[in-house]
Amino acid sequence: MVTGAIFADLGNDVIGVDIDRSRVDSLNAGDCPIHEPRLPELLKRNLKEGRLTFATSIPEAVSTSEIIFICVGTPPAEDGGTDLSQVETAATGIAHAVNGYKIIVNKSTVPVGTGDFVRDVIEKNGVAAKDFDVVCNPEFLREGQAVRDTLQPDRIVIGSSSETAAKTVELLYQALGAPCIITDTQSAELIKYASNAFLATKITFINAVANLCEQTQADIREVVKGVGADSRIGPAFLGAGLGYGGSCFPKDVDALLHASRRLGAEMPILEAVRAENDSRVPRFIQRIIGRLGTKNRLPLEGTTIGVLGLSFKPDTDDMREAKSIEICHALRETGARLRAYDPIATTNARRIIGDDGIEYCQNPYEAAKGASGIVIVTEWREFIQLNLNRLKSEMVEPIIFDGRNVYSSEQVTDAGFEYFSIGKIPSKPKP
Ligand code: UDX
Repeated sequence: MVTGAIFADLGNDVIGVDIDRSRVDSLNAGDCPIHEPRLPELLKRNLKEGRLTFATSIPEAVSTSEIIFICVGTPPAEDGGTDLSQVETAATGIAHAVNGYKIIVNKSTVPVGTGDFVRDVIEKNGVAAKDFDVVCNPEFLREGQAVRDTLQPDRIVIGSSSETAAKTVELLYQALGAPCIITDTQSAELIKYASNAFLATKITFINAVANLCEQTQADIREVVKGVGADSRIGPAFLGAGLGYGGSCFPKDVDALLHASRRLGAEMPILEAVRAENDSRVPRFIQRIIGRLGTKNRLPLEGTTIGVLGLSFKPDTDDMREAKSIEICHALRETGARLRAYDPIATTNARRIIGDDGIEYCQNPYEAAKGASGIVIVTEWREFIQLNLNRLKSEMVEPIIFDGRNVYSSEQVTDAGFEYFSIGKIPSKPKP
């Protein structure tokens, strides 16, 4: 949706195809089905100006298009690999509708070799090699800032065995003025997985250093300032926290691990990344139990805990691999009663986390009512400047467990809170 809306905004005619009729209808009516800043305006403007439409018919879209992007899901397969059935279905549908030369671009995140797979599917379905080229053009946008990332990308990656096809796709992006890397298809495919796995590794590395800080007087935020100032390292993606979640990093690390095993070039470093990431929430829960728990079988029985933030990251309502799911389950298993708040994701969260032992609240202060601790799971902007006095007045015990280092120790201890953050020993409230 984001890529299509921006191509339309740049003056192209774009048809977005989906098999879900109700989604297509609501998009044509200008309703954006996800929370993504700036996207609703983009959709509305381009629908109104007639450059963007949505349809369910592949033949109609393919026959009138020069370039066709495949942007379907590539979920994990049962064997740990990548399920390419949606790619195959889309490629087959495209093949049946080809009516002249087409450029078929894979934007879905796919394992190395998928370009050849798409080519085979299209040829097997009766299209002559001269009538199409396959291009790999991965996207690197982040949820919550997808429009910004698409308009101001660090780079555009285009992989193809056809120079002409690659150049045609490059023209689509020309107006953005971003550096363009034109390469072979398999390198382009690997660039996407390697980028995501590297970023996941960077986050995981700093989380491991944060564990070390918690055993010393060091403060991870100070450490990150110094480490990130090295231009060879850079400050981005050094935010220590509860580990990475979302629809990409966990899936892509697993997919690269699987591919590396299959190809006989194992990457044990990614096993370690995975294991460390999986240990983030249990470690955090142990800190909560260590402070608030009893020796009973259910150590937090009778304790109320407020949970702030449910989506996997701010500015999205996406709950895929959100740390809140693991945290809410783990806290409920210890007997805690939960009061949760999220600015946008509550409806989606309720569907996944359920209502058992958890009350969904209208604002952070309501979530703090009667609580012995507040757990910050997602760093939504509106949590940065909470009225801490008001928050404290709602609570039984003023303790903040900050899983995203939203606050500084001084800020919350000055307000009378005990403060547990990531990568620093706990701080007592100022008298
Ligand atoms: C990611 C990639 O960044 C993007 O390039 C790719 O196209 C899709 O996957 P996204 O999953 O939307 O994007 O969000 P991102 O901002 O990368 O965050 C992923 C996870 O890492 C989140 O759970 C986030 O909380 C966590 N994270 C991120 C950290 O824990 N620390 C950081 O410093 C940055």
